Amino acid sequence: MSSALKVAIAGLDEAIGDVLVVLVGKDGKLGPEATKRLGKAGAARIAAAAEAETFAGKSGAGLSLPAEAGFRDKSTHVVLVGMEIAEGQKQDFLKLGGQILGKLPKGRNASVLAAGPDGAVAPEAVADMALGMKLAAYRFDRYQTQKKGDDADAPAAGAVTLLAENAAAARRELKTRDAVYSGVTLARDLVNEPPNVLTPTEFANRAAALEKLGVEIDILDEKAMKKLGMRALLGVGQGSEQESRVVIMKWLGAKDEKAPPVAFIGKGVVFDTGGISIKPAQGMEDMKGDMAGAAAVVGLMHALASRKAKANVIGAIGLVENMPDGNAQRPGDIVTSMSGQTIEIINTDAEGRLVLADVLWHVKQKYNPKFMVNLATLTGAIMAALGQEHAGLFSNNDDLAANLLKAGTATGEKLWRMPLGPEYDKIIDSKFADVKNSGGRYGGAITAAQFLQRFVDGCPWAHLDIAGTAMSSPSTDINKSWGSGFGVRLLDRLVAENYEG
Ligand code: BES
Ligand code: MN
Ligand code: ZN
Repeated sequence: MSSALKVAIAGLDEAIGDVLVVLVGKDGKLGPEATKRLGKAGAARIAAAAEAETFAGKSGAGLSLPAEAGFRDKSTHVVLVGMEIAEGQKQDFLKLGGQILGKLPKGRNASVLAAGPDGAVAPEAVADMALGMKLAAYRFDRYQTQKKGDDADAPAAGAVTLLAENAAAARRELKTRDAVYSGVTLARDLVNEPPNVLTPTEFANRAAALEKLGVEIDILDEKAMKKLGMRALLGVGQGSEQESRVVIMKWLGAKDEKAPPVAFIGKGVVFDTGGISIKPAQGMEDMKGDMAGAAAVVGLMHALASRKAKANVIGAIGLVENMPDGNAQRPGDIVTSMSGQTIEIINTDAEGRLVLADVLWHVKQKYNPKFMVNLATLTGAIMAALGQEHAGLFSNNDDLAANLLKAGTATGEKLWRMPLGPEYDKIIDSKFADVKNSGGRYGGAITAAQFLQRFVDGCPWAHLDIAGTAMSSPSTDINKSWGSGFGVRLLDRLVAENYEG
């Protein structure tokens, strides 16, 4: 599926691989560890070469030099990677890890001297560098049978060893990072999978595989959903040959298994044609990623269970396929949601909110969580507003919003808070039912959020509109994949910082 990069951690003095990466600061400045490692003569030669190439040590800049006689190191190549950042900024070691990977010659084993101009890198930061490399190395090549080896857009290095001052501590830190890595990888894999493979039932099976990590799994089929009255969700799937599913995942890691949980809910539209309000052909293939919210929830549960998070967490995903068909839902239809509220369907392409309405309501009634956070590739409007840099954050609770914003800044999975209010809410009042599923073009991301808010029953709640950040992602230092896995690191951090121990 995805070729994982091997990253090990060893002591500062060990020599592994034939390429040595040295981190340099402003104006090519080397730290004491690098000087010791390369010898005075070697360090001087590097400084001279760096100067000749006017290598200033800017963050992410790279320079590869043959390690000629005079170097004390056994490596055949020395690769310089700059780590200079603007004054007052904090070094982002996750990004630096990804940048380093990009500078490594293909197929060679490399060691990275985890020490900068100001001395050795702290154990947590070493682990962040390792995670950054692994995330950057991810490729989804499961269906590429021809492109292999040098042709492939493959990760650069063979294996990487980080040489760290406190290797044992860094290795311990890396263990929790590996749990997060596996969660992000799972989310990316799910988003990248084609829609003929990843049907709602197949998606449910993949979520059910979390059972081996100690996650309790509960799958609702259509019969069970009918019994609960989830007619908003079922209406979306009724034009598809594929049966809809809801999967509930429970991780009970808190000291008190009975303590109220926190809950994460994901939109899992495995393919969104728009239904009868069908989408234009151009770019419709991207709608295989309309389950990225659900993918992030499954990835998050995988991460939390793998690192045995000390928290009670519910993950719930609504899985449907939105298809046009003789039996498909029509504009004008009125459905009764599980909450009892009736919904007039204005546009069958505003389907995600219908799916979430029933899953949010169900989770609130059944688990009464401390809060609910839902993730959804909900609107094109959020992309018009925020582009692909920030996900939209909507919340009825300032503390929850603040915690989310903080986790966003810390992980680089950035959020931007958007407004909610009664003026927006009344736009979705319906002439024929309690609420309508589209408020039209103006403020489209906001009226979508207002719709969801009508189904949270007063529970502290936040909605993350990830349409711009979860798929078709621009290449970054730590992500070269179409599906970014957005949300897994963010919410893992939210739980770790606020709801454990
Ligand atoms: N899945 C789409 C939103 C989307 C668009 C996600 C582009 C990712 C990329 C969603 O179901 C949708 O179609 N929303 C409509 C709502 C409208 C009909 C009220 C939209 O945004 O146009
Ligand atoms: Mn749609
Ligand atoms: Zn959709």
